[in-house]
Amino acid sequence: MSLAARIPEPSPDAQFAADIVRGLSRRQKSLPSRYFYDARGSELFEEITRLPEYYPTRSEIEVLDAHATRLMRNVGPDHAIVELGSGSSRKTELLLDAAPRLSAYVPIDVSETALTEARQRLSARHPRLRIWPVVADFTDLGALPAGLEMTSKIGFFPGSTIGNFDAGDARALLSSVRRLLQPRGRLIIGVDLVKDVDTLVAAYDDRAGVTAAFNLNILERINRTFGHTFDVTTFRHVAIYDKALSRIEMHLESRREQTVRLLDRWFRFERGETIHTESSHKYTVAGFGDLAREAGWEVGETFTDQKGFFSVHDLVAPSSMARPAA
Ligand SMILES: C[S@@+](CC[C@H](N)C(=O)[O-])C[C@H]1O[C@@H](n2cnc3c(N)ncnc32)[C@H](O)[C@@H]1O
Repeated sequence: MSLAARIPEPSPDAQFAADIVRGLSRRQKSLPSRYFYDARGSELFEEITRLPEYYPTRSEIEVLDAHATRLMRNVGPDHAIVELGSGSSRKTELLLDAAPRLSAYVPIDVSETALTEARQRLSARHPRLRIWPVVADFTDLGALPAGLEMTSKIGFFPGSTIGNFDAGDARALLSSVRRLLQPRGRLIIGVDLVKDVDTLVAAYDDRAGVTAAFNLNILERINRTFGHTFDVTTFRHVAIYDKALSRIEMHLESRREQTVRLLDRWFRFERGETIHTESSHKYTVAGFGDLAREAGWEVGETFTDQKGFFSVHDLVAPSSMARPAA
């Protein structure tokens, strides 16, 4: 039985089908990156975090390890951590260990298997902590589970998942998270930084081919959900860095001209045509600070790892947010 609350929404498969048709009908075909994360995708992502080329996880853990005590100072029984895109919740353990009096932890993710595994592991380690997993799309969250009204909410948004959104959508998401966490909200957010192109591209195109398998899994998920349609061997993983947009793009490139029948439609692919599956925007510390301020946050402390590869920002809702709306 599922241990997670589910926010009501249209049937997940109907939403998936609508998003596929919309994305594959565009001139630049695309699929939303949140569909990477079924059970297999979440497993592959965990494998990616252990790859030698994938510096973001190690760099962010280095920062959290060094500063968790400072970030969690003054956190007591009147506080809850609300995590967006929590996945395995491995990084959260560093915060939870530094906040033993914390009242509740609310992990939010589209991957139910990741939430269930994390909950089992964390409740064994923190038996007194209330853990309320929520299966939901964090871009479309109405409200938090009832029972949190009296707690101060500390948002946690690690993994540079914010980088998957272009600037306008990132600003809108940061604003809606600010409203969700009010009053007295804080957001501890991990943001990957601009660096040399070779390091960036290698992190998304590893030698062992795990990121390629992760990318191709989105076609396999379509096959598993809607019947076998894609011949996955006719697509290959591509990762490029667009310097002008400061972002890594992942694509699936058709190795040949082909027509795919899916959801009662035909989708034509030229040889070399791609499906854009994910963007990962890279920021400077100052550039991300500007974005956060545009979304209504005040920027508190910012920490980086020794190499300056990754940043963790402590954002604070302006004090006016603490006053109830008139
Ligand atoms: C890059 S991984 C990061 C995982 C983990 N937080 C970390 O830092 O290692 C992104 C996570 O966010 C989840 N996710 C992606 N888009 C989402 C969305 N729109 N709503 C909820 N969860 C989402 C994925 O299932 C995945 O667990």
